[in-house]
Amino acid sequence: MQRFFLTLLILVSHMFFAQSKLNLIPKPQKVEFVKGEFTIPETFILSGDLPKAETEYFKKRLSTQLKFQYAQKEGGIHLTNSIIPGLPNDDEQKKEYYSLEISPKQIHIKSYTKQGYFLALQTLIQLLEEHKTNKKIPALKIEDQPKFAWRGMHLDVCRHFFTVDEVKQYIDYLAMYKMNTFHWHLTDDQGWRIEIKKYPKLTQLGSKRKESMIGAYVDNKFDGKPYGPYFYTQEQIKDVVKYAQERHITVVPEIEMPGHALAALTAYPELACTKGPFEPATKWGVFDDVFCPKDETFTFLENVLDEVIQLFPSQYIHIGGDECPKTRWKECAHCQELIKKNNLKDEHGLQSYFIQRIEKYVNSKGRKIIGWDEILEGGLAPNAAVMSWTGIKGGIEAAKANHFAVMTPGSYCYFDHYQGDPQTEPNAFGGYTPLDKVYSYNPIPEELNAEQAKYILGVQANLWTEYITDFKQVQYMIFPRLMALSEVAWGTSDPKNYKEFENRVISQFTVLDKMKVNYAKSIYNVSGKVIPDNNGIAYELSTSQDPKGIRYTLDGTDPATNSSVYQNPVPVSKSLLIKSAYFENGQLKSAVSSQEFSISKATGKKITLEQQPSENYSFGGAFTLVDGIIGNQKQLGKTWLGFQGKDVIATIDFGQKTNFTEVYFNTLENKGSWIHLAKSAQIFVSDDNRNFKMIKEIGKEDIQKAKGKIKLNVGNQTAKYIKIKIENAGIIPAGNPGADSKAWLFVDEISVL
Ligand code: ACM
Ligand code: ZN
Repeated sequence: MQRFFLTLLILVSHMFFAQSKLNLIPKPQKVEFVKGEFTIPETFILSGDLPKAETEYFKKRLSTQLKFQYAQKEGGIHLTNSIIPGLPNDDEQKKEYYSLEISPKQIHIKSYTKQGYFLALQTLIQLLEEHKTNKKIPALKIEDQPKFAWRGMHLDVCRHFFTVDEVKQYIDYLAMYKMNTFHWHLTDDQGWRIEIKKYPKLTQLGSKRKESMIGAYVDNKFDGKPYGPYFYTQEQIKDVVKYAQERHITVVPEIEMPGHALAALTAYPELACTKGPFEPATKWGVFDDVFCPKDETFTFLENVLDEVIQLFPSQYIHIGGDECPKTRWKECAHCQELIKKNNLKDEHGLQSYFIQRIEKYVNSKGRKIIGWDEILEGGLAPNAAVMSWTGIKGGIEAAKANHFAVMTPGSYCYFDHYQGDPQTEPNAFGGYTPLDKVYSYNPIPEELNAEQAKYILGVQANLWTEYITDFKQVQYMIFPRLMALSEVAWGTSDPKNYKEFENRVISQFTVLDKMKVNYAKSIYNVSGKVIPDNNGIAYELSTSQDPKGIRYTLDGTDPATNSSVYQNPVPVSKSLLIKSAYFENGQLKSAVSSQEFSISKATGKKITLEQQPSENYSFGGAFTLVDGIIGNQKQLGKTWLGFQGKDVIATIDFGQKTNFTEVYFNTLENKGSWIHLAKSAQIFVSDDNRNFKMIKEIGKEDIQKAKGKIKLNVGNQTAKYIKIKIENAGIIPAGNPGADSKAWLFVDEISVL
């Protein structure tokens, strides 16, 4: 009995050992190790019935990346393939099924389609890359297929343009990690990037802009340099589509309507509600001038779509639909008449009318539309699929109504967000979406039952390029997050074992190094978290690497010169600057992280919020407001709490009667991002947390005069509780980006002195 038990143990540990040698991303559904090893040869012999284009791709990857030789001579290793006859039509994902058997003598791939064969080759390439040095791959059998049919990556080429070669590299990255959809965002306010033969002015006038915004949005700075003309000719588009097809990647084009249309209106101002003239936007954000739903606009859009449909064989055409202000429609006689004539409820009904009319046209051409979740406004077009970005609600609503949805919620899938401490990262859009956050995403919302869940087509990450000016930075923003997305999309992610995934990511870095890809090393960075400690705070440092490698200083000096090894959370009882970094074998491996603390009588005290912040901007919860960290504008997702349409009503419990004379807080203004200063604020005190007395009030004018940096003298106060009510600006007034929508209120910290 005992012996048997031991044998079993050895067997199990041997299997684990072998398993740990595979660093595949995305992890396959099923790996079985068998006896023996496959020795990687100098020479590959390809035999059997090998699909040609895919095999050419394989050979090219091997020779350029791995430097393998090819020769049609004996003594090498045989790669064979068989296509399983009869694709089961009840299992869509079987199209992408493959098995890969590696025995000591040969490699055999089975699949139903060339696509399956291609995916198997990606796995094989990763195995060869990983084992190239020791030249041995454990004999094994992999059976694999994706969970989701839509595994997408988006690229915005309007805010910044990327060349055909760069777009092809991007497509290559998608292929490497078994993604199958490239969403090409081709038109926007800042540039029209696709040649349309019937409307040459689109690219003559719409593909360039006077200058571009630079730096942080709030700085409102411009570079003074003309940008463009930049666009893709139809020949170039065909070339890219073909290139993607060879990699089994579907290119889904996006033509934005009715909003994000300034570049188009620059060329054809007659399609707007007002006369114009217009020019392509030089700053980022949302703009009031949008397509006017007149017949002439629909004729134009239909003609544009005709050419787009000719160029892109994808089943879906993305028609945008997001962020369309209704300001102009409200004041336009034609729009108002159309609302009346068609018995529409309001301008949201008009948005729905617009999308439905376009859908009918696209459907008549045998294609389907997909749009951002605002296409749900005023009623969803009958066959439309929804790309859920403002959260997951759009996807849930679509799936419950038996419409397909692609999940791309901002908080997990926006790769223009920061992936590490913003102070050590290049300027980004805001938000905080590190690798583990992406990896933790489950595209199937809990709210859906099994039947509804079938309508979740898949998952996608978006790369908006307002702050991404060159391709090196594109690489930086997608790597390594693309790997996390790929495993989420493949359906084998296991957030509980994030660390195991991260080790595979680090192994993939070797490949990216070889390819000279500028990937982010943010996972090495030391991150800090403020924790409550003894009625105050302490700063807890962590790294996903060996915690013994963390070093820090408390006097602002560089940890590379003279620092302490981190052991326990560092109590912070006075204002100071903590610098930290990660070291391996004495070598600095990460960027240096810095955190400044500003300590007040409220710091670390118990705080409650009557209304919770919005999901995307709720990092750290209520405690964020008393964590001793004054908000950095670059860290919207981290040091600030964001409330859309809601007031901040915070109660701080000092724990005992406390004297104070001043109260501080900041609220942001960034109208382009719908962030408005508070309308008013009131301070109350109480000793029993029931009866509160107002001690101070400040109105809109004073808040605006102070530009949101509020410092209130409250006289000599003694109280156990303080309540701060900060009033949201409410509905965004006409003439502003996002007019009629709920404004955002951002607050970073409440200090009491
Ligand atoms: C979007 O991010 N406006 C779809
Ligand atoms: Zn109009």
